[in-house]
Amino acid sequence: MSSVPLSVQQLTKRFEAGTVNEKLALDGLSLEVPAGQFVTVLGSNGSGKSTLFNAILGKIFPDSGKILLGEEDVTRQKDYRRALNIGCLYQNPLRGTAPSMTIEENLALAYTRKASRSFFAVNRRDNAYFRDLLATLDMGLEDRMKTKMGLLSWGQRQAASLLMATVAQPKLLLLDEHTAALDPGAAEKVMEITGEIVVRDKITTLMITHDMDYALSMGSRTIMLDSGKIVLDLSGTDWQAMTAGALAERFYTRSKKR
Ligand SMILES: Nc1ncnc2c1ncn2[C@@H]1O[C@H](COP(=O)(O)OP(=O)(O)O)[C@@H](O)[C@H]1O
Ligand SMILES: [Mg+2]
Repeated sequence: MSSVPLSVQQLTKRFEAGTVNEKLALDGLSLEVPAGQFVTVLGSNGSGKSTLFNAILGKIFPDSGKILLGEEDVTRQKDYRRALNIGCLYQNPLRGTAPSMTIEENLALAYTRKASRSFFAVNRRDNAYFRDLLATLDMGLEDRMKTKMGLLSWGQRQAASLLMATVAQPKLLLLDEHTAALDPGAAEKVMEITGEIVVRDKITTLMITHDMDYALSMGSRTIMLDSGKIVLDLSGTDWQAMTAGALAERFYTRSKKR
């Protein structure tokens, strides 16, 4: 399997330094994620979750600190080079997919990008593979491969986006509240598929969520951010023993203190 450990070392990022709007978004944050681990990420608005993801994706560069993906120091690597190794999904299911292209074309694009093969070299065997993959979603999409992405429901789009983000077997998967904009039924389904794909492919994964139940039911570890730092890091028996109620209490006590 291609997944690798992620090492975030003493990451600091200050926005609008030297102005009245100066904001310390990441405050010497360190995080070690072993290969294949699934970590859920909690934190109130403005705690630095997206900034952490953006730094890992290379959309912003930190002021100091290091990010290692496997053995490779990617701290200053260009975002488009990193994109080949990192799959990501956001709230809006259309971000990252082409709405006017069919499901099949979107999958083919994601699939060939990494292998640096030609999009036009996608053959019947690949298409059969896509059909099988879509069938695993259990959303009836395998019969709609010629349907334009933009015509699917949000839940279906997000499920298909998840396949697109993982079909090239990324080293790391980043999910930024990828079910938050879906209705409860679709969110449940996409979450279930997320668990299946991540476990099947053993992808190292970070998933931001506001849902305490999902935080404790997905993966095997939960971290909480506050003011750009990790203030809670639960795994093993502590993670298993934690309840959504107790976790919510920790969360709101933190928010109130601030
Ligand atoms: N591009 C930016 N310019 C200025 N400030 C930013 C920028 N991005 C984030 N921030 C600030 O950094 C802090 C952390 O933001 P963010 O990482 O988006 O938090 P979260 O995703 O946890 O809600 C916030 O105070 C936010 O206002
Ligand atoms: Mg955010």
